[in-house]
Amino acid sequence: MTMTDPTTAAHSSVAVPRVAFPPGFSWGAATAAYQIEGAAAEDGRTPSIWDVFAKTPGKVLNGDTGDVAVDHYHRFREDVRLMADLGLTSYRFSLSWPRIQPTGRGPAVERGLDFYRALVDTLLEHGISPVATLYHWDLPQDLEEAGGWPIRETAYRFAEYAALAAGALGDRVPVWTTLNEPWCSAFLGYGSGVHAPGRTNPADALKAAHHLNLGHGLAVGALREVLPASAKIAVSLNLHLVRPLTDTPEDREAARRIEAVGNRVWTGPMFKGGYDEDLKADTAHLVDWDELVRPGDEAEIGRPIDLLGLNYYNPTVVSAPRDNAETAEAARNDGHGDSEFSCWPGSEDVVFHLANDDVTAMGWPIDASGLVDSLVGMHRDFGLPLLVTENGAAFEDVVGPDGEVDDPERVRYVELHLQAVADAIAAGADVRGYYLWSLLDNFEWAYGYSKRFGIVHVDYDTQQRTPKTSARWYAEVIRRGGLA
Ligand code: FCB
Repeated sequence: MTMTDPTTAAHSSVAVPRVAFPPGFSWGAATAAYQIEGAAAEDGRTPSIWDVFAKTPGKVLNGDTGDVAVDHYHRFREDVRLMADLGLTSYRFSLSWPRIQPTGRGPAVERGLDFYRALVDTLLEHGISPVATLYHWDLPQDLEEAGGWPIRETAYRFAEYAALAAGALGDRVPVWTTLNEPWCSAFLGYGSGVHAPGRTNPADALKAAHHLNLGHGLAVGALREVLPASAKIAVSLNLHLVRPLTDTPEDREAARRIEAVGNRVWTGPMFKGGYDEDLKADTAHLVDWDELVRPGDEAEIGRPIDLLGLNYYNPTVVSAPRDNAETAEAARNDGHGDSEFSCWPGSEDVVFHLANDDVTAMGWPIDASGLVDSLVGMHRDFGLPLLVTENGAAFEDVVGPDGEVDDPERVRYVELHLQAVADAIAAGADVRGYYLWSLLDNFEWAYGYSKRFGIVHVDYDTQQRTPKTSARWYAEVIRRGGLA
């Protein structure tokens, strides 16, 4: 898939008027279990790969862990009231696999399911439609010790867990997503090692990618058997909006490579019948694709789904290696954390450049034109109804003397990106909802609690929640049904 015409590299070419959002558009916010729940050892939950990784010295900034996080496990009623006060019509959260099926095998634990039953019931009482993600990166550690995503068995374990979760919650959760950003699970988890489980083997990363795909397909099959016919199934992908730095054949080749191993590794088998030949050729020295992909796998992965979720933060600008001092620095600058190992197996030499220097606290460039191009390209290439399942920004928020948190940069970021969604809709993309990342400040993976993405501030000492200016602004957008 080419998501943008590489010959018009710099900016979106989609020129459209401001439009209102369609009726029934979902106005949401998103979170993930390990980032907010805490209660890591309660009610039968066992460690996930993130518990173990976070407790490994040097892996997470300041040694932060999700042991307590923002204590959502005990404060979910207060958090749902906050969502209701903001007027959210939908809420995207993830289910913790080791809370529901400790060790990744055997029957479900009722106490774990009870937490999600109570959460979902509370959402429904407030008129907030739940969207449940089955896997937002917290593989039971026992399954990692048995081989993790690089082994095929894990895909089957995932489908079994999906059936258990759907059996318990399927009567009240209308939208299910299988995986969140499998690119991160495979390539940050097993390639660069900056995410759990912290392995650094390019062949394992590619095997993990295939088994995540297979797990998705098997889970879709299992969910269809268990869920009511009205339920919708989705996946959330962080498809990279790749732009070549220049129009030279070398830079366009770099863009092709990153699109292959960043995007088409998922969308090929999910929506186009199989893995593309160029992806397999780029990585043939690392894995034997004929052995890895068994007959029938691609058909399994390609089971139809109902909605496609995009997580978008920034565009990705790439070039061929440049013979200058910048190169060594820039080569690592792909926005995903420092590692001497690459998260781009087979394309380790590609150089990453900042799209511009207007950046968030993560160092991620702010460029909403990439969201327009992504949504329009996904609509054109896959023809599915779309959700923006994540979009948002970290900034250095300051609590004022009056206790308020004024975050005009976040308001600006979200406004630019909501306008981009409206532009994509005006250009014909069927976008059904927007989920702001994130409702609450939370555990930002390898950055621990140092990066705040919430529209609601959390004091990590007292767990006090304070809606920021952006929360009040978003509530107003929702009340109006769009931008002013
Ligand atoms: C995405 C993750 C989400 C959050 C945001 C900032 O990659 O899905 O959990 O960390 O980035």
